[in-house]
Amino acid sequence: MMKELPLAKVYQFIEPGPVTLLTTQAQGAKPNVMTMSWHMMLEFEPPLIGCVVAQGNYSFAALHKTRECVIAVPPASLSKVVSGIGNCTGGDTDKFACFDLTPLPASHVAAPLIGEAIVNLECVVKDTKMVRTYNLFILECVKAWENPKLKDAPMLHHHGYGNFSVDGERIHVKSKMR
Ligand SMILES: Cc1cc2nc3c(=O)[nH]c(=O)nc-3n(C[C@H](O)[C@H](O)[C@H](O)COP(=O)(O)O)c2cc1C
Repeated sequence: MMKELPLAKVYQFIEPGPVTLLTTQAQGAKPNVMTMSWHMMLEFEPPLIGCVVAQGNYSFAALHKTRECVIAVPPASLSKVVSGIGNCTGGDTDKFACFDLTPLPASHVAAPLIGEAIVNLECVVKDTKMVRTYNLFILECVKAWENPKLKDAPMLHHHGYGNFSVDGERIHVKSKMR
């Protein structure tokens, strides 16, 4: 069960740069998912997220055409699944079935949430001006969900070629920055 996450809190999950999973739903096709670590926050609220989806990826056409997706943040315990999803294509693989992920209906987009994720961010494409030059989509998060059971679950950070680090200790330092 997912619990609604206030949009103002979305950046807290993206700012540390976790490896994410991006789901899409092309018309008449099975839902697909790809691994994505090239992303950045652009605005607090509404949350704007820039992300690079390479043109050669099966996900590119679905995202470009439907202008919708879900960004899911997986727990570090799913590292093998995350790597596996990023090393095969929805062009010939039903990744939700193959990697035993639970697709859950989203409320604003056709792409599914991922039941095993820490958070799920329903996004619409806000701006495609930089897609042609950089494969860079600007997304607006319109609805966000958190999984209370995975509240403090560590996330993965990508260092290339199958190397990841896992979140360590979290600390709090006095700050005016939200
Ligand atoms: C850790 C990791 C991070 C990745 N990050 C990105 C990314 O930010 N953008 C991208 O286009 N591909 C990225 N990839 C590659 C895609 O996930 C990969 O090409 C995938 O097969 C695309 O799936 P699709 O063809 O079903 O869309 C990443 C792969 C891994 C393993």
